[in-house]
Amino acid sequence: MVEVKPAPMANVRDKTAFITGGANGIGLGIARALVRAGANVVIADIRDSSLAEAKASLGADDQVETVQLDVTDRDGFARAADAAEARFGKIHMLIGNAGVGVLGPVLDARYADWDWGLGVNLMGVVNGLVTILPRIRAHGEGGQMVTTSSQSALIPIPGSAIYTATKAAVLGMSEAIRGELAPENIGVSVFLPGPVQSNIAMSSEVRPEKLRQDSGYVEFEEGMKKRPVSPLWMSADEVGERVLAGIRNNDLYILTHPEFKEGTRTRFEAILASYPEEPINEARAKEIAFLLGNPAFDEQLARRTRVTEAAD
Ligand code: NAI
Repeated sequence: MVEVKPAPMANVRDKTAFITGGANGIGLGIARALVRAGANVVIADIRDSSLAEAKASLGADDQVETVQLDVTDRDGFARAADAAEARFGKIHMLIGNAGVGVLGPVLDARYADWDWGLGVNLMGVVNGLVTILPRIRAHGEGGQMVTTSSQSALIPIPGSAIYTATKAAVLGMSEAIRGELAPENIGVSVFLPGPVQSNIAMSSEVRPEKLRQDSGYVEFEEGMKKRPVSPLWMSADEVGERVLAGIRNNDLYILTHPEFKEGTRTRFEAILASYPEEPINEARAKEIAFLLGNPAFDEQLARRTRVTEAAD
């Protein structure tokens, strides 16, 4: 029987969340859900122009702080965390959400495109982890780390090499750290949404000039800006509520779009079908037992079974 511990952030009231990329789209949807649930939020975003608007739209100034931050700037990250603590005392939740839609054919991708995508979508999450997790651990009240990955981490498609590399890295990293942080009463959730109504098609607006000059994606990104946002995509507020539910349940995986389930199944079946049909070497299996599974998977299965049973 797998033990399912209480979620560290089952009650988010009066707790504080630090949300990167929180001034638009999904991050703002997460902020709205958390504010409604009584949490304080610190919205950190590179787009200074969006911060005041985001704060006004939340309509709860006593629960909201904003700070301009480029998540690739490590010193800036430490200053932003200091500002968050100066305002609300402690940070409990880190929502590593800032990301850019760096998409295009792999053969056109230049180093500037790889550096921008990995710098924001992967190293931005890492910088948050290195800066803020020790602060969460130090106050001892428990906490939650949420990383925004994507369905593209589970179903990589052509034309998304850089984006997928970052999102798959974020997924794997989150799965790897979950067991390490559990004894500190810090939960880890990886959020893997499908299409959501947001400003992601405008990402190139925040591409640093030095990484724009040598980009192979200039034309592609201009085209992206004209791509309409479909009303059929999920709203940021809806996914925000789903993330809040995932935090309250300390779910390892927070998924949103059931449309992706079959494709995910096929991917895992393709992987399973590719293992050699040979007998297991028992001595080898014993020696490498620690590599052969992760209790976080069993625990998540037990958590979801509990949720499903409660709904019946
Ligand atoms: P968005 O563009 O509406 O919001 C992203 C926010 O991140 C913006 O406010 C932007 O200013 C900020 N940002 C960009 N670069 C930054 C940097 N260097 N430092 C700090 N802030 C920065 O886009 P969206 O869709 O809300 O994206 C949020 C996350 O969700 C991203 O990680 C994205 O990859 C992910 N995602 C989005 C999906 C979608 O369909 N919209 C689907 C799957 C994942």
